[in-house]
Amino acid sequence: MSKILITSALPYINGVPHLGHMAGCLLPSDVYARFQRLMGNEVLYIGGTDEHGTTSEVGALKAGMDVQSYCDMFHARHAKIYQDFNLSFDFFGRTSTPENKEATYHIFEQLDKNGYIEEKSIKQVYSIDDKMFLADRYITGTCPYCGYDKARGDQCENCTRVLEPTELINARSTISGSTNLEVRETKHLFLNLPKLEEKLSAWVKTKEPFWPEVAYTIALKWLKEGLQERCITRDLKWGFPVNKPGFEDKVFYVWFDAPIGYIGITKQWEALDKEHRHWQDWWLNPENVRHVEFMGKDNVPYHSITFPATLIGTGEDWTQVDFLKGFSYLTYDGGKFSKSENRGIFAEDAVQEFPADYWRYWIMANSPESSDASFTWDLFAGAVNKDLNGVLGNFVSRVLKMTSSKLGDNVPSGGEFSDLEKGLIDTLQTKINNYIKFMEQMEFRKALAELRAIWVEGNNYITVAEPWTVIKEDEQRAKVILRTCINLIRIFAIVSAPIMPETSSKMLSKFNLSLSGLCNFDVAKEINFFHGGETFEVGDMLFERIAPEKIEEMKNKYGSSK
Ligand code: 2FM
Ligand code: ZN
Repeated sequence: MSKILITSALPYINGVPHLGHMAGCLLPSDVYARFQRLMGNEVLYIGGTDEHGTTSEVGALKAGMDVQSYCDMFHARHAKIYQDFNLSFDFFGRTSTPENKEATYHIFEQLDKNGYIEEKSIKQVYSIDDKMFLADRYITGTCPYCGYDKARGDQCENCTRVLEPTELINARSTISGSTNLEVRETKHLFLNLPKLEEKLSAWVKTKEPFWPEVAYTIALKWLKEGLQERCITRDLKWGFPVNKPGFEDKVFYVWFDAPIGYIGITKQWEALDKEHRHWQDWWLNPENVRHVEFMGKDNVPYHSITFPATLIGTGEDWTQVDFLKGFSYLTYDGGKFSKSENRGIFAEDAVQEFPADYWRYWIMANSPESSDASFTWDLFAGAVNKDLNGVLGNFVSRVLKMTSSKLGDNVPSGGEFSDLEKGLIDTLQTKINNYIKFMEQMEFRKALAELRAIWVEGNNYITVAEPWTVIKEDEQRAKVILRTCINLIRIFAIVSAPIMPETSSKMLSKFNLSLSGLCNFDVAKEINFFHGGETFEVGDMLFERIAPEKIEEMKNKYGSSK
């Protein structure tokens, strides 16, 4: 049994997740955690909310709340959504906790002691009316190159030029609209990445065979272009005050304490049962822990360069990322999800409209793994109606109804396998082995195609075996066929569990069973799990078809370009 530490990028606290967030790290990390537990491995699956930074301060200001209450409210909202989607975090924590402060302070002190922290003075825009320094994206003005009057301090959206906020004409605060701005000199702390470059480069190269190309390419590109010193402090109130004399009125930059948040959250998890849980077993144990990180591609540089360099700079033996699974984006009908424009379905509404498993299946089958993927209602309804209802749901209900009506509510017994069953065992073993291999490699689209193909084998078998005809002349043979089909239902429930946990337990509950493992899965043995005589319940259909009228209703409600 190996120890697998699984982390899912910590969503920003302000703003609620849409399907794109679910697809871009949250759901795949859960599927992988469930899969690894099913394989018998010891998993610690960590998530949480990323709470510091200007956006939280500004969000709270707009909502008329203090930042702490604002974050408390949003944290609870995030937690509820992920619970509704059945994300199986061992702990869902927060970055603004005392545990994370302790971890952040410790790491900073080590970096400082080892000479990787520099002091520098920089020029920043200060808003006199807002009484704060403005982050670049909170300054709006006219672009000096194209004249666009809503250019942001970091970039002009119209001509795409990267800007310095001081270049903007008629600059104003995005927060209050005030033009009462001035440039002030302010002292900040920087992480000296160039000084860490050699050690980091050597470390990145050890990762080559394990990292997906997207992460490796991004990391190498950064290293090739040369690393820059990075400012790790900000002039804000909401954050951890910097633990260095002369800097107490500043806070750490959100991207400094966010990845450390994984460690802080593990400490929160430990605090609930100190006798049996030790955060060091996971974070200071690189030889025995495999750390797998899930994130959107925009996060890759922070987790392949900045955070590993931060940990290397401490001189301590931290568990580093072993595999970094990056994702592209899921779009809504090819466009952006937007709450303000009422475009696209957000996670909170999604689970009100359809059960979580419908979403889990569609999202994983269409995972934006190598390129962007697009959600449309037609694709979604097609997958639910054809794959879930048509293939899996119908098989289960057909088999149980037929057995119940012809032979009663006990698994039929007696008889021997024919060549048909022997062929089925071989085919299924190959497909299940492939499914396990793709899940291990986190190739989710391929894994899901294989899962569907496994269900299809059930339909192929029953179509060829024709128990409804056979039963008229050879009841014993029909019993073998239906018992085999009932065993298939249990096998399908086990292999589907990481993707559709609720459906899986619904299937198993028809036999009063709980979930069993997938490690060394031997189809020849598992297909004989039920010998005959066990009771079952036909129960309800697993899925409901989505009617054309419902699809139209969804398009009208959530927007559609089609
Ligand atoms: O991109 C984001 O949503 C960031 N809040 C992710 C942080 S991941 C980790 F560093 F915590
Ligand atoms: Zn411009």
